Amino acid sequence: SDVRAVAGAIRDAESVVALTGAGVSTASGIPDFRGEGGIWERHDPMDFHIDRFRADPGGFWADRVKLQAAAFDDGNVAPNAAHESLADLESAGHLDTVVTQNIDGLHQDAGSDDVIEIHGSAARVVCRDCRRRFDAEPAMDRAREGDLPPTCDDCDGTLKPDTVLFGEQLPEHALMQSQAKAETADVFLAVGSSLTVEPAASLPRVAAERGATLVLVNLESTPLSERAAYDFRADVTEALPRLRRAVVE
Ligand code: OAD
Ligand code: ZN
Repeated sequence: SDVRAVAGAIRDAESVVALTGAGVSTASGIPDFRGEGGIWERHDPMDFHIDRFRADPGGFWADRVKLQAAAFDDGNVAPNAAHESLADLESAGHLDTVVTQNIDGLHQDAGSDDVIEIHGSAARVVCRDCRRRFDAEPAMDRAREGDLPPTCDDCDGTLKPDTVLFGEQLPEHALMQSQAKAETADVFLAVGSSLTVEPAASLPRVAAERGATLVLVNLESTPLSERAAYDFRADVTEALPRLRRAVVE
């Protein structure tokens, strides 16, 4: 079967890299962007633009508080079988790195060690003036209490969630690391992503151009579906445990 073939390629590979998108976290109760019921059905992408933050940081934070209350149910967000399968593959020595577009920290919660967050992390905030980073929780608490926008304890600058907004550069070190991983991967898994946002979407393309076996797992087709060696139209919480079993058992 195709699953066995991919499992064989993973076992034979020196380097296996996974790129994950919002689709790996939908089963944990976090909506994706472009899938059914996704965030773009309720929000204007411009709400996620750095110009919006610059124009009205207090309003941006107020929206963020509302979005978090709606998206992260009651705060009981936990990793699902997709995150767990990737963590298991890593600890079994069959996965080098998870490159994630997600900001939710669920790969780390599931036990993945080597995680590159190319779109930043909701767990941190960054000061617009002194660039220091802090845990997000105290800033979120202040924003919830109406202290908008929360400001830096050191310099009183405006705090921003340490996540990449439209119009912002990706964190340079994370991007360079993930490009290097893509270039040397023997097997590249792209899972739960529409593969429509650059530069993340170029990682699987570059990997395939450099000879990696490209494996996609997504409910819908993607712009890279035709270039993939294997294109599983499947739920990641079902396909990744199946793949993990085929690799490690
Ligand atoms: P998208 O919302 O664009 O794509 C998620 C994909 O996952 C969709 O194609 C869904 O059909 C699929 N999907 C949802 N649940 C799934 C499941 N259980 N099993 C399999 N597939 C599932 O999310 P991303 O590709 O991550 O960037 O979006 C990339 C970036 O766009 C995000 O990181 C964000 C956004 O703008 C920034 O905020 C910078
Ligand atoms: Zn500061």
